[in-house]
Amino acid sequence: MAEVIVVEDGTEGGALVAGAIRDLISAKPDAVLGLATGSTPLPVYRALARSLAADPLDVSRVRGFALDEYVGLPAGHPESYRSVITRDVVEPLGLDPAHVAVPDGTLATLETAGPEYERAITAAGGVDIQILGIGRTGHLGFNEPGSSFGSLTRVKTLTAKTRADNARFFDSPADVPMHCITQGLGTILRARHLVLLAFGAAKAHAVAAAVEGPITASQPGSAIQLHPHVSVIVDKAAAAELANLDYYMYAWANKHDWQGI
Ligand code: GLP
Repeated sequence: MAEVIVVEDGTEGGALVAGAIRDLISAKPDAVLGLATGSTPLPVYRALARSLAADPLDVSRVRGFALDEYVGLPAGHPESYRSVITRDVVEPLGLDPAHVAVPDGTLATLETAGPEYERAITAAGGVDIQILGIGRTGHLGFNEPGSSFGSLTRVKTLTAKTRADNARFFDSPADVPMHCITQGLGTILRARHLVLLAFGAAKAHAVAAAVEGPITASQPGSAIQLHPHVSVIVDKAAAAELANLDYYMYAWANKHDWQGI
């Protein structure tokens, strides 16, 4: 079962996850971080940046792999996930840009980009901690409903709902790319620890479907139920549709400190 942790807000959730990442890097200086884009993980990156500024840690050997990328955006486009990861993660944390990979959405090399990304993750020894947001369609990364639980990094077509949700980052909805390249659910499930964050009422349905719903490709988030170590960090609004919420809160309140997340 996923461990569900209800926090007051993104700030508290971000600090909790940043602490776990800090502990990981302290124990394993060449840790491999699985990085998510979107607004949800921002408090994690901000809290970690603050913590590293206040109490520096050597992050020169830390590696990172982003979940996904749009296909066909020009190099350097501010909304490409390469740009977003550079801006929100690599620079504030002081990571070595050469150690942080993002799937390559360049059209000319798209056919081989997925298998190459998988090889790179494997060569790095796999992801230690995978940060995840969740889309309103229940998507993880850009694995839209219908994605195979065995899928690896590949090209996908975005749903109209996801393109509409992400239109806020572009000049017009038509500018949101139709295609993306994303780690598969199978890729994500290979990470050693999954940390799924969700805040706000708009995510309540997707969270409940992921944590408690039937395991189904129609709800890609439900793939987390197949993983042995999952932490789900939610605020009260995102937790609102969880049937077993009382139990999750009781279990968290009575957890031994040494267990961490
Ligand atoms: C995008 C990303 C996902 C992210 C989702 C939710 O579609 N590809 O990785 O989880 O958006 O975004 P937000 O956190 O902004 O709600």
